[in-house]
Amino acid sequence: ARHDLVDTFGRVARDLRVSLTDHCNLRCTYCMPAEGLEWMAKPQMLTDEELLRLVSIFVGLGIEQVRLTGGEPILRKGLVDLVAGIAALPDRPRIAMTSNGIGLARLAAPLAQAGLDRVNISLDTTDRELFRTLSRRDRFDDVVAGLAAAAEAGLTPVKVNAVVMRGVNDAGVPDLLEFCLERGYELRFIEQMPLDAQHGWDRAQMITADEIRERLGARFTLSPVAARGSAPAERFLVDGGPATVGIIASVTAPFCAACDRVRLTADGMVRNCLFSRGEVDLRGPMRDGASDRDLVRLIRGEMWRKARGHGIGKPDFTQPARPMSAIGG
Ligand code: GTP
Ligand code: 5AD
Ligand code: SF4
Repeated sequence: ARHDLVDTFGRVARDLRVSLTDHCNLRCTYCMPAEGLEWMAKPQMLTDEELLRLVSIFVGLGIEQVRLTGGEPILRKGLVDLVAGIAALPDRPRIAMTSNGIGLARLAAPLAQAGLDRVNISLDTTDRELFRTLSRRDRFDDVVAGLAAAAEAGLTPVKVNAVVMRGVNDAGVPDLLEFCLERGYELRFIEQMPLDAQHGWDRAQMITADEIRERLGARFTLSPVAARGSAPAERFLVDGGPATVGIIASVTAPFCAACDRVRLTADGMVRNCLFSRGEVDLRGPMRDGASDRDLVRLIRGEMWRKARGHGIGKPDFTQPARPMSAIGG
C-alpha cells in the first residue's frame, strides 16, 4: 500500500522488533561479560507513552507484528500495561515476545490476557549444570516453569531458541529436540552471529547449520518443509511430522533478501538491520516536539538506507558497536 515502509531493494517492513530494556537477569557467556555491561541511563529510555506513540506510527506504516525484546523484556516495569496499550491500537498488530522465560511462570497468564499472542524463549541446554555455567545463573527451573506456563496460557506456538556452540552445548542438540518434542514446543537451532559484547566470535569455531543437521540425523529423520516466506528458520519435519524443528542459518545461509524487519531500541533509535552501523534517533526529535509526519520522514529515511545484507564474512565486516543485548536480537 501507499504507506508501506520500503527500502531500495524493494523489501517491505512488516515486523517491528522493539527492545524494552538492555538489562538482563542472565549473563550468557556468548552475550555479555560476567560483570554485565554499562546499562542505559533511565532518562535516555523511552517512556511507555513515547514508546506507544512510536509503535502506533509504525503500525500506520504497515507494520503487522510487534515483537518485544530486550535484554530481557520481562524486566521492564509495567510490561503488562504496555502490551495492553499495543493491543488497543487501531489496526492492532500481532504481538510476540522473545524472552529468557524467567518470570513467565507468574506473568504468562496476565500477558496473554493483556493481548500477547505468542512467545519465543531462549534455552540452550537441558542440562541444569550446563545452563548454570552458560548463563552464569542457576535459573534452569525458572525457565522450564516459564515455558510450561506459556503453553498453558495459550502463548502458542511456544518456540524455543538455542544458540549452538562448539564443545559447549553441541553434544546436547538431540536431547534438546527430545525435550521440546515431549512438551510440544517448536525448537529452532541458531548459528551463532558476531554480536557478543566481548567481540569474541570466531567463524572457524561456529557450528554450522549443516553440522546441526548432522547431529540431529543421528537420532531423528528430518525432511524439509517447503514454505518459508520471510521466516529466518528453515524448518524440517521430525520423523515424518507433524512436529518440526528449525535451523536459523544467519551466517551460512542468510535470509537478508527476504528480510521484513525494522528495529526500535529502548533509547529510541531506529535500526534498519541487526547489523546496521548507523541508526536514527527518534527520541531527541520527539522530545523537541517533532510531529508524527516529521518522525515518519526520519523512519523512511533510515529504511531507505538499509543495506542488501549483513556482510558477515566480507573483508571489511565489523561488528555493530551496539551489543546484541541492547538491540534485541
Ligand atoms: P519468529 O517470527 O517466531 O520466527 O521469530 P524470530 O525467529 O524472527 O525471532 P527471535 O527473536 O526468536 O530470534 C531468533 C533468532 O533469529 C535470534 O538469533 C535472532 O538474533 C535471529 N534474528 C531475528 N531477526 C533477525 C534478523 O533480522 N537478521 C538476522 N540475521 N537474524 C535475526
Ligand atoms: N547469535 C545468534 N543468536 C543469538 N542470541 C543471542 N546472542 C546471539 C548470537 N550471538 C539469541 C538469544 C535469543 C535471541 C534473541 O537471540 O539466545 O534467543
Ligand atoms: Fe542471555 Fe539473552 Fe540475556 Fe543476552 S540478553 S544474557 S542472550 S538471556
